[in-house]
Amino acid sequence: MSIRKKDIKVGVVGYGGAFNMGRGHLMEMQAAGMTPVAVCEVDPDRRAVAAEDFPEIETYASLATMLKKSAVNLITIITPHNTHARLALACLKAGRHVVCEKPFAIRTTECQQMMREARKRGLCLTTYHNRHWDGCILEAVEQIVKKRVIGDVIRIHCRSGGFSMPGSWWRSSKKISGGILYDWGVHYLEYCLQLIDEEMLEVTGYAHNGIWAPRTRWKEDTIEDDAQVVVRFKNQKWMNLTFSNIDTNLQPQGIEVTGSKGTYWFDLGSYEIKLPGRNDSERLTRGKNPAGAWDRYYKNVADHLSRGTKLIITPEWASRPIHILDLADQSARKGYAIRTTIR
Ligand SMILES: NC(=O)c1ccc[n+]([C@@H]2O[C@H](COP(=O)([O-])OP(=O)(O)OC[C@H]3O[C@@H](n4cnc5c(N)ncnc54)[C@H](O)[C@@H]3O)[C@@H](O)[C@H]2O)c1
Repeated sequence: MSIRKKDIKVGVVGYGGAFNMGRGHLMEMQAAGMTPVAVCEVDPDRRAVAAEDFPEIETYASLATMLKKSAVNLITIITPHNTHARLALACLKAGRHVVCEKPFAIRTTECQQMMREARKRGLCLTTYHNRHWDGCILEAVEQIVKKRVIGDVIRIHCRSGGFSMPGSWWRSSKKISGGILYDWGVHYLEYCLQLIDEEMLEVTGYAHNGIWAPRTRWKEDTIEDDAQVVVRFKNQKWMNLTFSNIDTNLQPQGIEVTGSKGTYWFDLGSYEIKLPGRNDSERLTRGKNPAGAWDRYYKNVADHLSRGTKLIITPEWASRPIHILDLADQSARKGYAIRTTIR
């Protein structure tokens, strides 16, 4: 049964102050034609901010009450990572469509539980992978996948971080956030999986803890000082991702893609293509990445719900980075590579 976009009543769980994400989501959903009606937030100060931002909106202190009293039919979850699966399941069980902020969840089993529930009830379940539409990856897909400027992709190397003590916010707690790789790492993995279109075979994780831990609020539960994940794909391809809080050698950060005919490097702002040749000017092309198009995310969700347009960020797609990080965590603890069960 089709529904008009403006009749899709949207709400958010979590109206946090770190990046004002709740406001951002409601504005984007509104711009896509849907109607903001509800905010659920446990912090009364942030509920007051929501009421000021959207004077017509209903505000709730608990999800159970919002699900009981509100007519909201699409709910976006914008809370700390370890709450995503529990809150999403509660929404799905109450018959509501769900958008979950990234990371979709922390464990593969949580993603599978959510997908089972959504399928059983015929509900939409998706993850807010807004960075699927970052200018840098739109350009990289154009150059690498469509124009094949570096031939076949063989290896991807991503590196990010610096030398700094994890702060006191929840992102520095491993139990709450999932670990150092679960924040920007999820965006990086989602980029990379667009560039290597192969089955995943196995995952190896490396992690070091204990340098910063004694000095932080979270003590033993502090995220890793340094962690790396290596994914082996079919057809002799692989990818690795390193995030560090003990890295004093800041360069080069970003993503380097090595192909059979050359190398493509990019960060958010720019890219470089290096091909073999006699001198530097022949070999090197530099460019600025185009502007991103995050508005396409909610436009697709609204089109999907209102007229059955194919969903771009499916739960299956959003589960792949989580499966990689879940296995990396297990592998780092066990000390050996682990075969994937999701391809
Ligand atoms: N896609 C992106 O570009 C992007 C950017 C920033 C944050 N995020 C994601 O957004 C999510 C939230 O991050 P943030 O920076 O906004 O955090 P935040 O700490 O600013 O906000 C989280 C809010 O959730 C509230 N909350 C916690 N449990 C709740 C519950 N059970 N019911 C209702 N409210 C609850 C907290 O009180 C807090 O206000 C994370 O998943 C993060 O990774 C994504």
